Amino acid sequence: MQRDTVLILDFGSQYTQLIARRLRELQVYSEILPPGTKAKALRERGPRGIVLSGGPDSVHEKGAPRCDPGLFELGVPVLGVCYGMQLMSHLLGGEVKRSGRREYGPAQLEPGEGVLLRGLKRSTRVWMSHGDSIEKPPRGFTVVARSGDNPVAAVEARERRLFGILFHPEVVHTEEGTRVLSNFLEVCGCRRDWNAASFVEESVAKIRAQVGEKGRVLCALSGGVDSAVAALLVQRAIGDRLTCVFVDNGLLRKGEAAQVRKRFAERLRLKVLFVDAGKRFLGKLKGVTDPERKRKVIGREFIEVFKASMKKVGRADFLAQGTLYPDVIESVSTKGPSAVIKSHHNVGGLPKGLKFKLVEPLRELFKDEVRAAGLKLGLDEEFVYRQPFPGPGLAVRCLGPLVKDRLDLLREADAVFLEEIRAAGLYRSMWQSFAVLLPVRSVGVMGDDRTYQYTVALRAVESMDGMTADWVRLPYDLLARVSNRIVNEVKGINRVVYDVSSKPPSTIEWE
Ligand code: XMP
Repeated sequence: MQRDTVLILDFGSQYTQLIARRLRELQVYSEILPPGTKAKALRERGPRGIVLSGGPDSVHEKGAPRCDPGLFELGVPVLGVCYGMQLMSHLLGGEVKRSGRREYGPAQLEPGEGVLLRGLKRSTRVWMSHGDSIEKPPRGFTVVARSGDNPVAAVEARERRLFGILFHPEVVHTEEGTRVLSNFLEVCGCRRDWNAASFVEESVAKIRAQVGEKGRVLCALSGGVDSAVAALLVQRAIGDRLTCVFVDNGLLRKGEAAQVRKRFAERLRLKVLFVDAGKRFLGKLKGVTDPERKRKVIGREFIEVFKASMKKVGRADFLAQGTLYPDVIESVSTKGPSAVIKSHHNVGGLPKGLKFKLVEPLRELFKDEVRAAGLKLGLDEEFVYRQPFPGPGLAVRCLGPLVKDRLDLLREADAVFLEEIRAAGLYRSMWQSFAVLLPVRSVGVMGDDRTYQYTVALRAVESMDGMTADWVRLPYDLLARVSNRIVNEVKGINRVVYDVSSKPPSTIEWE
């Protein structure tokens, strides 16, 4: 059975992905496509509705992105948001006024009679971010809302089921945005059945079909959520024809390798080949202190170790990977949030040049959906909501030479910090919190003795996506407790500092 789908054309707004996420939260599957996707191609996908996203351009600019006007003739409901509304008005014969000035921020919307705005308050707060406005809607459209300076804040052609809104329903600052999107889904006649349970069921069926009766699958577990959920889906589909490989590179946090063993092999019964390669990695990293060189060495070594472990696993036809939807959009979209520069390669990714067919069961999912699927598949909350951990691990948090003693100091200090953050109930409220070992020693005094030991820096940041971040205003008494405990419990560290830099200009990791 084909699932009901709403397609979104991306005109480059930073909020396009949010539209998709909101529709999915309303349990309707949605996908993002390039702005110029032909009407015929759209029809072949059989969408229940189409959304034209916002975007930074003016329809009057040369080279501003267009959609195929044929899509308005498909008989499918269309919702134009901001630039999408202006484009729809422009293409259908309305007048779009060039303003040269951007209205950005909150505004009060006063809805009148209309299908899309049904059930809204008589004055409701919306979020605006537009330059041009509509002077005259196209023939057949009626104005259904005004706001502040905009006499035309929403339009609709009810019979044709075409709608336009100048505000952004997808952002939280629009207080009744969900209601507007939900009304649109009503008009589209969508079934609301996209959720973790239906996703898992569909995905398992798809994997079975792809892998067949005899196919064997290999999966590299990184210790993170994505590869874990991918592996569990494949396991559910084909049982022990899946083998996982987990490489301990000696750069993991305290107790992490043991936890992976316990969680995946013992509790979830995945067939996992554990490769203890700590010595090998540290051998290759001897004398390497440059951050980028560290990353390169680790990436290369991972591929070597992985290749060697494949011999032990035996025949495998497929490689399962935890690729997520935002990475997929990056390759289909021409503009927009999708264009953000991804600076980091996940070390631990696919060794290039290996002859595998790929199984990528998370290609359609956003991170929050992966988490929901993980819970459905039996992963525990603590694991599913863990903070991101970089592929090169502690290598980029242990400044200077990577030797076991120093890594052990860092592991101990980091464990104390995380324990206290968890105990304070703060773990899930922040993007990342961790310790960094600095390559400097300083003088201290302990009892009657002079000490000359290492310094640890604590880092805790809030962020939406890791692209920008601010340091967390941790309570002083928490910092005091962590500092005391580290200096007392970790022999070799006599000084603790707290990093109060935001990103930019600093980065989250120190290397
Ligand atoms: P920065 O330090 O650039 O980090 O502000 C942004 C986010 O990316 C993570 N990060 C990495 N992840 N491989 C990864 O898989 C890497 O080499 C890497 N470097 C940084 C970092 O933890 C933060 O969440």
